[in-house]
Amino acid sequence: MEQLIIQGGRPLRGSVRISGGKNSSLAIITAACLAPDVSVIENVPHCRDVLTLKGILEALGARITLADDRMTIDAQAVSHHVAPYDLCRTMRASFYTAGMLLARLGKVQVPLPGGCVIGSRPVDFHLRGFAAMGANVLTEHGYVHAETPHLTAASFFVPRSSVGTTINLMLAATLAEGTSVLENAAREPEIVDTAVFLSLMGAKIKGAGTNTITIEGLHDLHGATYSVIPDRLEAGTYLIAAAGTGGDVLVEQMIPEHVGALLTKLEECGAIVERNTDGVRVRAGGRHHGVDVDTAPFPGFATDLHPPFASLLAIADGRSTIRETVFESRFGYVDELRRMGADIRVEGDRAVVNGVPFLSGAPVEALDLRAGAAVVIAALAAQGTSIISNAENVDRGYEHVEEKLGALGASVQRVETGTEPAAVAQAG
Ligand code: EPZ
Repeated sequence: MEQLIIQGGRPLRGSVRISGGKNSSLAIITAACLAPDVSVIENVPHCRDVLTLKGILEALGARITLADDRMTIDAQAVSHHVAPYDLCRTMRASFYTAGMLLARLGKVQVPLPGGCVIGSRPVDFHLRGFAAMGANVLTEHGYVHAETPHLTAASFFVPRSSVGTTINLMLAATLAEGTSVLENAAREPEIVDTAVFLSLMGAKIKGAGTNTITIEGLHDLHGATYSVIPDRLEAGTYLIAAAGTGGDVLVEQMIPEHVGALLTKLEECGAIVERNTDGVRVRAGGRHHGVDVDTAPFPGFATDLHPPFASLLAIADGRSTIRETVFESRFGYVDELRRMGADIRVEGDRAVVNGVPFLSGAPVEALDLRAGAAVVIAALAAQGTSIISNAENVDRGYEHVEEKLGALGASVQRVETGTEPAAVAQAG
């Protein structure tokens, strides 16, 4: 287990380059295995979830190399239909193997997925979609079994906006017989990115990025070369960190439209936001003031940016509220921020934040990926030293986090748990 030791109180200054999208990469790398061919994916981030997925796909027969940010996937030998429990249980996106294997092999046995503990996160929509496409689906002993000799197209109404369901059914439909229509499809940029890659593989997809996606199934697809879009959640996290530490940061290589709702809220707080050709520059505008936020599917305020944004609001002037509409258990970070002196209480689906003038360094835990981002930002802004345990949760979605923050002037050190200097063990 690793810890991040952060000495706070240093405004972030300079520029940071955003890595390729983690969630896009997970979908696209799995999509590459639909074809018995070689694909090359560029701009792939070295974060833990990507490496876990690499292990899962290798267990299914793929041969994969990752050099710098370029992943080469030789999916010719994908022939196993049972996905390994030990790897799948750690990551929600492992369930994309279900759509891919059902389309490619006609049968699949995949463990119910794990991932961040932020809500019950069922896969019932995915399973109903597979059943609508003619698969016999059974959940037994912790595994989903799905099988059909003949995957057929379906019209499927996704019961509520779901990124994972939209991607999984899109993967399956590319090789189903006939034309599938996904209604009430999610519209996140990662879905568009996956659809663009699938189209390069030969798939016939229309409407990605709208609520209705039409997929004309084909007999086979071929390999393709593609570069993943920048990670909007990493970009958003650095933008919030810049404002939260009273800094001035240019976030390079990002797509501003992918975080439009966040930029609006940053401006509403009083931060100075400049969109230019190199990226987005955020400067703190003195002490920020409280705002009200509702999370929503894209293009709304991303649920994954809720915990990091709460750290900014924790030290803003006045009262803020954050209403979480996507995941019911996303408030675990609140107790961690309270250890640092934040005044936040949870009322049903809302966090009510009464801004305090400053936070104080403390030992805290990265409970999940975005809760981890929240405590990192709080620690950067706080007075004194914080020790963040379970740093591995941060690594699930943020590449080279201590190097990137260090280059912006932060003091971030990574140590094995139990090896921190004695003086630091009494954080604060
Ligand atoms: C994706 O998760 C992302 N993960 C999440 O990012 C993100 O928080 C989430 O979308 C929402 O934007 C990946 O892309 C790998 P959903 P996903 O299906 O697909 C309910 C991060 O930090 N639902 O859009 O699992 C579900 O419980 C991660 O990078 C069902 O009820 O989310 C939730 O309330 C964390 N049944 C809502 O729909 C289902 O079968 C939306 O979930 C599927 C979903």
